[in-house]
Amino acid sequence: MKSINELKSEILRLTGEYSRLVHSENRPGYDKKRRMWKEKETIPYAARVFQEEEVQVAVSSILDFWLTLGPEGKKMETELAAFLGVKNSLLVNSGSSANLIAISTLTSHNIEKDRRILHGDEVITVAAGFPTTVAPIIQIGAIPVFIDANPKTGNAFCDQLEEAYSKGKTKAVMMAHGLGNPFDIKQTLLFCKKYNLWLIEDNCDALGSSYSMPRKLAESLGINENSPGLDEGPERIARWTGTWGDISTQSFYPPHHITMGEGGAVNIIKNKRLKVIAESYRDWGRDCWCPAGVDNSCKKRFNWSLGELPHGYDHKYTYSHLGFNLKPSDPQAAIGRVQLKRLPEFIQARKRNWELLRIGLDSLSDILEFSLPTHSESWDSKSGFRWDKSSCRSTCSWFGFKILVKDNAPFSRTDLARELDRNKIGNRMLFGGNLTRQPAFVNLMKDNPHAVRVVGSLSGSDTIMNKVLFIGTYPGLNEDMIKSEIEIIKNFANFSKSIKS
Ligand SMILES: Cc1ncc(COP(=O)(O)O)c(C=O)c1O
Repeated sequence: MKSINELKSEILRLTGEYSRLVHSENRPGYDKKRRMWKEKETIPYAARVFQEEEVQVAVSSILDFWLTLGPEGKKMETELAAFLGVKNSLLVNSGSSANLIAISTLTSHNIEKDRRILHGDEVITVAAGFPTTVAPIIQIGAIPVFIDANPKTGNAFCDQLEEAYSKGKTKAVMMAHGLGNPFDIKQTLLFCKKYNLWLIEDNCDALGSSYSMPRKLAESLGINENSPGLDEGPERIARWTGTWGDISTQSFYPPHHITMGEGGAVNIIKNKRLKVIAESYRDWGRDCWCPAGVDNSCKKRFNWSLGELPHGYDHKYTYSHLGFNLKPSDPQAAIGRVQLKRLPEFIQARKRNWELLRIGLDSLSDILEFSLPTHSESWDSKSGFRWDKSSCRSTCSWFGFKILVKDNAPFSRTDLARELDRNKIGNRMLFGGNLTRQPAFVNLMKDNPHAVRVVGSLSGSDTIMNKVLFIGTYPGLNEDMIKSEIEIIKNFANFSKSIKS
């Protein structure tokens, strides 16, 4: 008879064999064992990219049958925090949940009174983007104040931050590094420091993007160290996005840089106190911090006097916040840990794929406009990006390849989207476009015109809504797929030009 260990290794060996056979088209584009892509087959804008190891660890974790967030989760939290160089990472079941926890954390009675976000306080955010960067602001009873986005970068026009500020009301800035392009961190941090505001970086689309600034400037903002693995010499500080503010969030939904199926994380960048609060919100609102399956780690489980509960009331059932339960499961974390190991090569692949598309489509620059990093002014195929005078730089772990169809193009953005769709090329609009025009926000404002505040005309966000789409840069793409995308877009553009002239 086989021992338990022998049985398990046999199951995992067979699992690996099965996965190699069945999942060969899910392997990275640069993996020789990947099934060849054939002309005219679908080219997704994103998908999960994995090898047999992810399937094996998932099966192994299922065999162990711990199920709820447990040993794998704990390890992934440690590994993610170490990769980023932040104090703590807490796993959650989605990027949306991460955003909800991040902002809820700042409503806690454990936050000092003048910084705590209360009903009716304001949080500055961006009008163009993903809805669940903004929805949690409203869900906690605060008011989102929308600034505009720049169609060139997809990111906030940070010059509008001052105009958005309202003394005594503004408590935080919460916005995303759009499509993997870091927003203007320098200007945002200077603004937050000036008014003592929180910064929540929605890093859901930007894991592996980085930003750097002169060391003196960073130190004046309280930032002294490079992130692990980043170094731009003694005169500069370079850090991953998601490590500059107070709290940041990740999504591990399949199109994102790594996946756990459903999943995400809340990163606590330096303030340990925020970790305890965020964890409480994630875990039912409880005061107790014992991990699942552990009792009495505080050693005084029956010795607390909290709220108006009788002395000694079980700490495990004592609630200091009106919380949620937003944990993922342990098999998901097991998958996430393997994906995290692959992250450096995934980041490289995203950068490479973006560059191939950029080079291949350059000849259409008269009618199409492509993304620029926030601090760059132009791009050319020989020297790459040319930077502005801000002395800040970024590298983009691109979530997608953004295309803006210019006014002089002989077709519209939606024509292009239809053509891509007809050719089975996955494409997406830039999430919700101008969010204030989405039915959810229109209805909200009908019910209560003061539920949001808008700065300026939001014309940049309208341009993003009307003229922008993106195609994929994900690591599952290979050169043949990218070549085919380029050819189809060029043929369409040239044909459209020819019938117009
Ligand atoms: C910027 C941004 N924030 C939050 C989310 C939500 O993440 P999730 O789908 O994991 O809830 C997304 C989803 O793509 C996103 O793009």
